[in-house]
Amino acid sequence: MKKVSLTGIKPTGDLHIGNYFGAIKPALELAKEYDARYFIADYHGLNVMKNPVELNTSIRKVAAGWLASGLDPQSVIFYRQSSIPEVFELTTMLMAFTSKGLMNRAHAYKAAVQENNEKGDDPDAGVNMGLFTYPVLMAADIILFDSDVVPVGKDQVQHIEMAQDIAQSVNANYGKELLKAPQAAVRETVAVVPGLDGRKMSKSYNNVIPLFAPEKDLRKTIMRIVTNSQAVEEPKDPDSSQIFLLYKLFASHDEQAALAGRYRAGGMGWGEAKEELFRVINRELTPVREQYDAIMADIPALDRILERGAEKARHIAAATIKRFRKAAGID
Ligand code: TRP
Repeated sequence: MKKVSLTGIKPTGDLHIGNYFGAIKPALELAKEYDARYFIADYHGLNVMKNPVELNTSIRKVAAGWLASGLDPQSVIFYRQSSIPEVFELTTMLMAFTSKGLMNRAHAYKAAVQENNEKGDDPDAGVNMGLFTYPVLMAADIILFDSDVVPVGKDQVQHIEMAQDIAQSVNANYGKELLKAPQAAVRETVAVVPGLDGRKMSKSYNNVIPLFAPEKDLRKTIMRIVTNSQAVEEPKDPDSSQIFLLYKLFASHDEQAALAGRYRAGGMGWGEAKEELFRVINRELTPVREQYDAIMADIPALDRILERGAEKARHIAAATIKRFRKAAGID
């Protein structure tokens, strides 16, 4: 039997190139070897997004983005968390095995408390119970599907460790391996994708290159990449230029060598380098963008894909709940 890879995708709205190389591509790579179960974490989204229109469109945009990037819903079980009531049943069951102290130690919660303390506010100001208990919901997402590995960024490792702890507490109580304890598959080797200003590309830095922007906007965004004031004729160092680092993600080896040569020779201005970058990004993203636009033009069809995924997922989920309820004496 193949091992199970599972990950949750936050509905953040417009995906960018950092998501594409940092999360989407590695997860789709893993899906070749593993039984993959990937879902849109829409109830996680509710913790932070209270505007219904925004949340609703974000869910669709993110789902369409993964499909357009090559997720095959025939081979990957692709669904919305909100379609699986067993997730919430398992969350309640896991709550009984999760100490409050464990939640107190969660980085996201601790950061919120620290920020409040620094401002002199009540320590728990702005912290809702959804945010506080987030690691339990996430543990349920994972454990429900007997997940072996969970591809995530470094910031999520603590959550996976908590899922392990919680599964182990349950197993210790019943004296058998009732629930599978997951492992994090951390994406360390993935290149950091630089943003327009040279810092890591991130929505919170407002320095992103969107994945599905129309060609014209894509070009405009690339032209906004920050450069130094070196003159056209000066030789330039490719490895300290975010234009070149981005170029490497999209260009062949020959193309990379050729552009590096032009950097070092001098005589090429930043504008020209940006044009080269635009050319290779647009070459890769044009078919993806077309696919995305086609999916977004038929939301009912997209929803049907997610519903079919949910049906498959619920079969697996029901078995886990049944096993746990029986062990717990609630059968
Ligand atoms: N917390 C994850 C994030 O912020 C999203 C997520 C929710 C998740 N449930 C999950 C990731 C289960 C992996 C497994 O990106």
